[in-house]
Amino acid sequence: MTERKNVVVGITGGIAAYKMADLVSRLSKNGFNVHVVMTEAATRFIAPLTLRTLSNNPVLTDMFEEYSEWKVQHIGVAEAADIIVIAPATANFLAKMRCGLADDLLSTVVLATRAPVLAAPSMNTNMLDNPVTQDNIKALKDRGILFIEPAEGELACGVSGRGRLPDVDIIYQNISDILNSKKDLQGKTVLITAGPTQEDIDPVRFITNRSTGKMGYALAQEAINRGARVLLVSGPTSLAVPVNAEIYRVRSAVEMNEICIELFDQADIVVATAAVADYRPLSYSDQKIKKKDGDLTLKLARNPDILEGLGQRKKHQILIGFAAETSNLIENARVKMQKKNLDYLVANDLTREGAGFGVETNICSLIFRDGTVKNLPQMSKADVARIIFDSLPAGQVAE
Ligand code: PMT
Repeated sequence: MTERKNVVVGITGGIAAYKMADLVSRLSKNGFNVHVVMTEAATRFIAPLTLRTLSNNPVLTDMFEEYSEWKVQHIGVAEAADIIVIAPATANFLAKMRCGLADDLLSTVVLATRAPVLAAPSMNTNMLDNPVTQDNIKALKDRGILFIEPAEGELACGVSGRGRLPDVDIIYQNISDILNSKKDLQGKTVLITAGPTQEDIDPVRFITNRSTGKMGYALAQEAINRGARVLLVSGPTSLAVPVNAEIYRVRSAVEMNEICIELFDQADIVVATAAVADYRPLSYSDQKIKKKDGDLTLKLARNPDILEGLGQRKKHQILIGFAAETSNLIENARVKMQKKNLDYLVANDLTREGAGFGVETNICSLIFRDGTVKNLPQMSKADVARIIFDSLPAGQVAE
């Protein structure tokens, strides 16, 4: 018999809170063990007794009340959760999550969990569109919090616009998709390189590029979701490291190369998304280079090609490379695939809007050794990551 999954439904104080009765009922009927945690404001919109009856579990509202089921309540709930769903998620609660505040039971549970957290924002359109709220949502997404986009329609305040809680059907489907996501990389170790490298010129200057690490971190999150052990070798980024990834922070290509060689034997799959600088200053000046009249010429030395080196060491590993191109996408990518001994390669065309560096989406072509090419439309980097792992050769994934 499979164990029942624990779904924590966190309800915050918005008018849509009443819709959670339907969600809780649906989850319970479908075999999930539902624990409802409510903020004080949420209890003004729907009675805890309703949710207790529908979930068959005590409803948790108070940090300091004794519930026999949990030894230390907020930690117990946070650890038992297979997923935490915040619906409706108010602007206030999102702001608290962004800051890491833990001043009530629900915010403390969210801070203490390692389970995926899914938020369904619901609020007045102006509050949603306010740059502060948008900034909070973006920061939380960057930290790996999952979101369901608010729907459009008539709002409780009488106006029509974006900000409605999405249908309970959609929320239920998202929960079910996350909980039933494939675990086909269980037992595998995935080594991922991500972000830019920085090549020092002197104590204050370096050469770098526009990579933010978003593509690599999305791959790390997807591999973790599928049960893999993830070794994330990252150049400097401002992104939050996915929970459970083993992080190796580096700055230069030479450092990235050293750590990749050291970790390579542990890896079953390598995905190289890092935008590694091909050149570094030939010599490093330990004093700040002084401005003089006229031009300054910098001599550059070739950096190691990390992926090519791993291709030469390859034994059982599957090697997946990226190619960032501005012309002859497929032909150039094919040359790289041969030269670096790759199993397949993801080519992104940097000339297209919505592809490559910095943006939230990518437009890629997957190129395989047998010559086939799979062109993908513009999609989120998380979706690209899913397709990359879906394309692994049979035998590399658990059936
Ligand atoms: O980080 P983001 O802002 O999300 O942007 C994503 C991305 C554009 C950086 C990513 O999608 C991408 O294309 N990464 C590869 C960028 C690149 O360096 O491409 P390349 O064609 O120069 O290199 C080909 C492959 O060899 C890459 O897998 C690269 O990691 C690897 N390489 C390159 C040079 C080098 N010295 N060592 C390497 O290992």
